[in-house]
Amino acid sequence: MEMANKSIFKKIILATHNQGKIREFSRLFAPLGVEIIAGSALDLEEPEETGNSFADNALLKARAACKATGLPALADDSGLCVTALKGAPGIYSARWAEQADGQKDFAKAMAKLHRELADSPDRSAAFVAVLALVTPEGQEHLFEGRAEGHIIWPPRGDQGFGYDPVFMARGSTKTFAEISAQEKQNFSHRAKAFHALQEALFT
Ligand code: IMP
Repeated sequence: MEMANKSIFKKIILATHNQGKIREFSRLFAPLGVEIIAGSALDLEEPEETGNSFADNALLKARAACKATGLPALADDSGLCVTALKGAPGIYSARWAEQADGQKDFAKAMAKLHRELADSPDRSAAFVAVLALVTPEGQEHLFEGRAEGHIIWPPRGDQGFGYDPVFMARGSTKTFAEISAQEKQNFSHRAKAFHALQEALFT
């Protein structure tokens, strides 16, 4: 059901080419009556992620998309932080999957994670998402969400994307790749960051 949208945000550019994120945000924003336009649909260039934190990278992506379109822009920088690996892959989560030809291979990234964890007894991890919303008037908002859980092996499930098949949220017996998109919204780092944004800007 659509709720009345009393905010100034009717159209937001989503500064990403990641189809998994586009699907999740479109679903989250739909009830707010906000039209989400994916950066990939406009062929927006993706800036290099040169920041040292999720917040820095989210801001640089949102600023670039806002500047290119003149519309409010939302960017998410997210990743998987594994305790025993001192927070890695963290902001390098996508880069761990990058192959020589520029394609991403998450089966390989998950195998690397498994190798690096070796026989460490601490399997705890968290998915972290930081959302940056930047307006043409120069307002900048940041929101963070975390999903605590642990890493399992071997990977399980074929839904979701990225590292979903090896991540199990605390209190769940299924990986993020074994639950529906609808169910993932109850736990996920991106949904939590989105709810913080919704509370601050849409209520
Ligand atoms: P970036 O934010 O586009 O730099 O990339 C974030 C990367 O973190 C993604 O490419 C995935 O590898 C990983 N990631 C972030 N959120 C999720 C998620 O919900 N499930 C699985 N992997 C994720």
